[in-house]
Amino acid sequence: MIGASRGIGLEFVRQYRADAAEVAATARDDAGLERLRGLGATAFRLDVADAASASGLAWQIEGAAFDVAIVNAGVTGARGGGVDAPTEADFDRVMRTNVLGPMRVLPQIAEALAPGGRIAVLSSRMGSIGSRAAAGSSLYRASKAALNSVLKDASLILGGKAICVAFHPGWVKTDMGGSGADIDVATSVAGMRRVIAGLAPAQSGSFLNHDGTPIPW
Ligand SMILES: NC(=O)c1ccc[n+]([C@@H]2O[C@H](COP(=O)([O-])OP(=O)(O)OC[C@H]3O[C@@H](n4cnc5c(N)ncnc54)[C@H](OP(=O)(O)O)[C@@H]3O)[C@@H](O)[C@H]2O)c1
Repeated sequence: MIGASRGIGLEFVRQYRADAAEVAATARDDAGLERLRGLGATAFRLDVADAASASGLAWQIEGAAFDVAIVNAGVTGARGGGVDAPTEADFDRVMRTNVLGPMRVLPQIAEALAPGGRIAVLSSRMGSIGSRAAAGSSLYRASKAALNSVLKDASLILGGKAICVAFHPGWVKTDMGGSGADIDVATSVAGMRRVIAGLAPAQSGSFLNHDGTPIPW
């Protein structure tokens, strides 16, 4: 579970631990690591936007055989509705976290999967080009569209070895989603866990809502 200090990531850990699954999860700070250890997970520090930190994942999970791996870490950019260019700093922060981060950790995760394991990345419907009817938050949308491309490639590269999907978790009440969001984390994560558990190999390389409904790329 990559990026599990709070929000959707932490809820995945809580629910899998409640089912007595063994969980390895990452956070960037001591408070997050403590929360994860408090749930009985093996916790280690990882910042996907930092090359040295992210490259250390492989030895931390060496010898593991994960049934499920979830890349959840993500950030939003400025929420402007115009076509103004993002600042370089904002572009770097969002793209490094949402795109480069998964590109860094996915190959390492692939080496630590059980046969037929499942990989899920937390994308967003906002990254869908096929279903887009409104603009705004262009940088975030572009980052999730790029993440979807990365996930699709992973599904082709790992064909026969792993089932890989991108999820829209819903509009979820977290620090990112805000208190006015549609659903709570428990509902979102319970839905995604159900979908993950029931995935068939033919679904690898798909983009799914938290309830399993396909979303156009
Ligand atoms: N909430 C929604 O409505 C919604 C909708 C669509 C998609 N999503 C996606 O779902 C995922 C989780 O969202 P959320 O609502 O739970 O967000 P959140 O409450 O803001 O939590 C984001 C998580 O990502 C971690 N993270 C951020 N940058 C990181 C980095 N460089 N390295 C490692 N971890 C990092 C954060 O860790 P720190 O505590 O260290 O910052 C935190 O654990 C994101 O990818 C988001 O884009 C959310």
